[in-house]
Amino acid sequence: MKANSLRELYLGELRDLYDAEHQIIKALPKMISKVSSEELKSALNEHLDITRQQAERLEQIFQNLGEKAKAEKCAGMEGVIKEGNELLKDVDDEDVRDAAIISAAQKVEHYEMAGYGTARTWASLLGEQDAADLLEETLNEEKEADQKLTDISESINVEAGEGEVTKTSPSRRASRPRRVA
Ligand SMILES: [Fe+2]
Repeated sequence: MKANSLRELYLGELRDLYDAEHQIIKALPKMISKVSSEELKSALNEHLDITRQQAERLEQIFQNLGEKAKAEKCAGMEGVIKEGNELLKDVDDEDVRDAAIISAAQKVEHYEMAGYGTARTWASLLGEQDAADLLEETLNEEKEADQKLTDISESINVEAGEGEVTKTSPSRRASRPRRVA
């Protein structure tokens, strides 16, 4: 991508995010089909719906800018999703697999948070306040999804570790660090 102005950089970031959202819409159902925990499954299904709305929100931003909604291949998201799929490939234990899926999903969320945070700031700098508000809305949804995954991971990861706990070792459940609110 060639960019000689902040506006061009901003447009490039929007196209990158637009592609990233579509990659997620494609990848999430496959990941969800491998989930065992009902709680995790419903959280990811909910996020799939939200992701579709986020893609539409980007279309609205393009439209307000008088630009066609165009995707530019997001190589970063492609790598994050690929790494997640690799991680899941050979995991047989259900709980361990759920823990791996959470870690893959959280990497996706953090990548998106970086992109949306940047795009929001650039929109503000360019005086595009309506777009900045829409991008912030998505940024907050990604943060919420990430937090929800952290909450779920605190029970799932413990279950995934139980097979390794010996009778003499202290319970992981009891020694699990408390989350600071
Ligand atoms: Fe998203």
